[in-house]
Amino acid sequence: MSENPQSLGVLVLAAGRGTRMRSDRPKVLQSLLEEPVIYYTLSAVRSAGLRNIAVLVGYRGEEVEEYIEGEWPGVEVIWQREQLGAGHAVKVAEDWWKRYDNVLVLSGDVPLVRPETLSSLVSRHLGSAPRCTLMSFMADDPSGYGRIERLADGGVRIVEEDEAQEEELLIQEINAGVYLFDTEALSVVINEISNDEHEYYITDAVQLIGETEGDVSVIICDDKYELLGVNTPNDLAVTAKVLNKRIVRGHMLNGLKCMDPASAWIGPMVEFGRDVFVEPGAQIWGRSSLSDGSRIGAHSTLRNVTLGACARVIGPSVISDAVIGDGAEIGPFAFMRDGVSLGAGAKIGRFVEIKNSVLGDSAKVPHLSYIGDASVGKRTNVGAGTVTCNYDGVVKNRTEIGEDCFIGSDTMFVAPVSMGDGSSTAAGSVITKDIPDGALAIARQRQTNIDNWRQRKSIAGDQAEKAEEN
Ligand code: UD1
Ligand code: CA
Repeated sequence: MSENPQSLGVLVLAAGRGTRMRSDRPKVLQSLLEEPVIYYTLSAVRSAGLRNIAVLVGYRGEEVEEYIEGEWPGVEVIWQREQLGAGHAVKVAEDWWKRYDNVLVLSGDVPLVRPETLSSLVSRHLGSAPRCTLMSFMADDPSGYGRIERLADGGVRIVEEDEAQEEELLIQEINAGVYLFDTEALSVVINEISNDEHEYYITDAVQLIGETEGDVSVIICDDKYELLGVNTPNDLAVTAKVLNKRIVRGHMLNGLKCMDPASAWIGPMVEFGRDVFVEPGAQIWGRSSLSDGSRIGAHSTLRNVTLGACARVIGPSVISDAVIGDGAEIGPFAFMRDGVSLGAGAKIGRFVEIKNSVLGDSAKVPHLSYIGDASVGKRTNVGAGTVTCNYDGVVKNRTEIGEDCFIGSDTMFVAPVSMGDGSSTAAGSVITKDIPDGALAIARQRQTNIDNWRQRKSIAGDQAEKAEEN
């Protein structure tokens, strides 16, 4: 039963094994700029304003289902328990798409498809009312795709590579795997397709509609990249490059300053403020957000990082899951991970690792330190070589360091331990007891100077030599 005269469902096919990827991961979850391949297809569908979306899962379907449920609320999941071909996949989902007048069927492995292309496919299909509209494009290298054969009577035939004659193999117009069906026509033919000669081909349904149900029209997409299918590791690499170029260019149109756009890698969910500057070789992934005037140094990697205004990352540095305050400065050679919050104006310097810690405004860790499972108060200065010894071999323990502290170089904090506001440690101390506010903790052996050591050593040496001669 139709909900309204022009209702439309979108069925994204994602049950296939993706054999050519030679991977244990389902193809639609392969990483493309650090998001799953299917993220892009679903984003395009959503941005085209299409609702009523279902994803068909099968091969390692639990993983795909988990991703969809976690990241795409409102998108339904339909199971194809046995992967007998895309035609079978569409058949399995019949009860779902029968609710709509039309169903857009597309593969989850066409991540470059643009929302505008989907919208125009929908409006042209609804406008001219054929029983099926499919998309094609002219491929530089058509190998691996189904060729579109234009028949004398105006109809079309899709010839899969395995079954193509030599002259058919030369056809460059290929089937993009994006189809809009009138569900009434699809219902009639879907049970007619068989797997006698090959797996169930969705393309056979297209053929049957043309033969018995009415017009099939083809829309040629003039961007030869847009409908590239991702089937192999090489396709992944090619697609990532095209996507990245689009993303970087889009941000640059909005003012991003990029020294070498070709070498900067930016994920699809990253957001930029005004006048952000990206140096060569930077990678910015996940849900990162970089505020006005911030700067990312060469060969730095940021993943899920919120960077404050005018904050600066000097490359190379690697930062993930961190919130960094305005005007903070990090690097070079800094590593921050697993939940770090850095206050405004804080400084993290060379060869410093920070893990799961909170550092207050203007705190400084300039050199060679490890701060893990700790809090460091405002304006505290952490001397070179300081380590929070957070792991006792069984559990991780916390180190709490107050405000305005001065930590001498090479201090070891044996956690759990705390340091009060305005307190200090002497260089080389191993801190095992809490330090009260304002105190100086010295926890090392007192120095002993042995007078005339050099002279004594040489006398001792002479005597030994003589003893040997005798
Ligand atoms: C298909 C088309 C080909 C077209 C190409 C465009 C057929 C027979 N061929 O080939 O004409 O040029 O796409 O990219 O359709 N799937 C399932 N369940 C299955 C099998 C596949 O859901 O049992 C899904 C896959 O996950 C994929 C889609 O169907 O998203 C297409 O399958 P795939 O094996 O990639 O088809 P191609 O060989 O690329
Ligand atoms: Ca494919």
